[in-house]
Amino acid sequence: SNNTPKGIVIEKQGIFSSGGTVTAQGGVHAAGIGSGNASEWSSVTITGGTVEAIDPVRYICNRSSGKMGYEIARAAKNAGADVILISGNATAEPPTDIKFVKVKTALEMREAVWAEFDSADAVIMAAAVSDYRVKNVAAQKIKKTYATLSLELVKNPDILKDISSSRGNSDTLIVGFCAESENLLDNAIKKIQSKGCDFIIANDISRQDIGFNSDENEVYIIEKNLGIKKLEKNTKDKISEQILEEIFE
Ligand code: C5P
Repeated sequence: SNNTPKGIVIEKQGIFSSGGTVTAQGGVHAAGIGSGNASEWSSVTITGGTVEAIDPVRYICNRSSGKMGYEIARAAKNAGADVILISGNATAEPPTDIKFVKVKTALEMREAVWAEFDSADAVIMAAAVSDYRVKNVAAQKIKKTYATLSLELVKNPDILKDISSSRGNSDTLIVGFCAESENLLDNAIKKIQSKGCDFIIANDISRQDIGFNSDENEVYIIEKNLGIKKLEKNTKDKISEQILEEIFE
């Protein structure tokens, strides 16, 4: 297609047919997905948006629905996995039959992910983490004393990047998401390289009919070796099943 970067071939039916490095990683792939045998593999899905306090009553947040992550957790459960769902603030209804860890801030989310990721076969990071948090959270409600007010922000840790670089020889598969409003595939390729994860699921947020806050999505799966596969527009539950099939292929 027109926005395919030079030299990148999007596979039409074969699924990363060359993808030796991914399948070479370990037992989870042999166990396979859809076998229906509980506890053969485990996954941690992280979703929702983080909430960063300004003072005791105000906060910085975002419009994450959490839907994509919830659907991935459901799909993994249906495929027989042990699932843990870590969620920040989200507007969608979370699944009720999945172990659910509720977090607020990016720092709390990081703690929750660190606690689980070592023992997981797959970590799927679909959260909308605030890039910044307030440097000094006010202990009391801020008064409207001055005509202008500045908040000093400091960068939050990049959870996806940190777990990807610290996993050493473990064969945990790590999947990230990327939402772009332009140059989707170029940016997604840069992102998988900078984050160091195994897959990036890329979606185009300039479109109203898919992605953010929608029930549907259309995504590209970018693999570490830069194999790319497009998943045609579908409901988020179907897209989730397909994503799991692709990463465990
Ligand atoms: O850097 P960017 O936010 O575009 O990357 C998106 C991916 O990185 C998503 O998987 C998101 O959950 C993850 N992320 C993270 N920690 C951050 C920012 C993003 O894990 N501080």
